[in-house]
Amino acid sequence: MAAKKILITGASGFLGYHLLRTAHARGFDVYGLYNSGKISFEYSTNLQLDLRNYIDMGNVIDDIEPDAVIHAAALADATLCQKNKELSYEINVEVTRNLAGICSDYQVPFVFTSTDLVFDGEKGNYTESDIPNPIMVYGAHKLEAEQKTAKVYPESLIVRCPLMFGAIEASDKTYFSTFIRGMREGKPANVFHDEYRSICGARSVSEGILHLCEEATGLFHLGGTARVSRYDFGMAAAEAFGLDKTLIHSLSQKDIQMSVPRPADVSLNIQKARSFGYSPLGYQEELRHIAAAKYL
Ligand SMILES: NC(=O)c1ccc[n+]([C@@H]2O[C@H](COP(=O)([O-])OP(=O)(O)OC[C@H]3O[C@@H](n4cnc5c(N)ncnc54)[C@H](OP(=O)(O)O)[C@@H]3O)[C@@H](O)[C@H]2O)c1
Repeated sequence: MAAKKILITGASGFLGYHLLRTAHARGFDVYGLYNSGKISFEYSTNLQLDLRNYIDMGNVIDDIEPDAVIHAAALADATLCQKNKELSYEINVEVTRNLAGICSDYQVPFVFTSTDLVFDGEKGNYTESDIPNPIMVYGAHKLEAEQKTAKVYPESLIVRCPLMFGAIEASDKTYFSTFIRGMREGKPANVFHDEYRSICGARSVSEGILHLCEEATGLFHLGGTARVSRYDFGMAAAEAFGLDKTLIHSLSQKDIQMSVPRPADVSLNIQKARSFGYSPLGYQEELRHIAAAKYL
């Protein structure tokens, strides 16, 4: 039997990097879409496309006839979204709604990658039935994209991802690669002790997405195994990479004037996903795999 075809948007991005490799390892015939970046993975078929070209997007689906589409393309920089609301709306909301619509027309299973930042962070341990209340443009647009996706294609799978870390080579722009690079150069790092997330390795999240996309539709939270402060995560990363922990300075969110409001605790409850077989590694274990270069 021929391998199932999976089409991944945002394949040149951080999560896309992990999705491509994980999907290949799971035996999928993998197609990756990029726009201005590049994809170095040699086992996927890679195509350039600006997703705002809906006719071309439809043609790609028509030509490839994928068994599923995972939409990981986004304007995922919260600061940029805050500064350029129109662009954020175009990429995060309109592209997502139109891609969901195309997948609905072709009856191709569709996965939308959303974010924990749809919540205001007042409560933490959020379940799928908690009411979102985004406090920044990025979160608000991702929430609107969720709602439009569910409306145009109710059988979609919507996964809210946590703050992720992963292979250093996946992107030089993530907080994680910046943190590790800086610490290796002996630069001090300021991290919040009062900001909590369900930080998770991107390989675990990618495994979860690929597993759920064959098992389920609807809304799922794909966080890590624990609620962790950014300070404790930073210390664990330094430990795993053998870096100097004294370079890490603990700060409060209140100590900094921020250009984008940051929620205090957007930790995710993952019981629903677990009951469908989601099984992420603990962050310390995934950090050790990355540091030992035994990753992906
Ligand atoms: N990283 C995290 O910790 C995190 C946390 C929660 C949720 N998420 C979600 O996970 C998904 C992936 O995020 P990420 O961190 O991997 O983002 P990223 O590294 O910034 O990558 C964004 C991707 O979107 C693509 N893209 C942007 N505009 C496009 C356009 N007009 N046409 C085609 N492609 C376009 C980019 O392509 P080019 O670079 O080729 O232009 C890139 O591949 C997003 O939905 C994000 O909201 C991420």
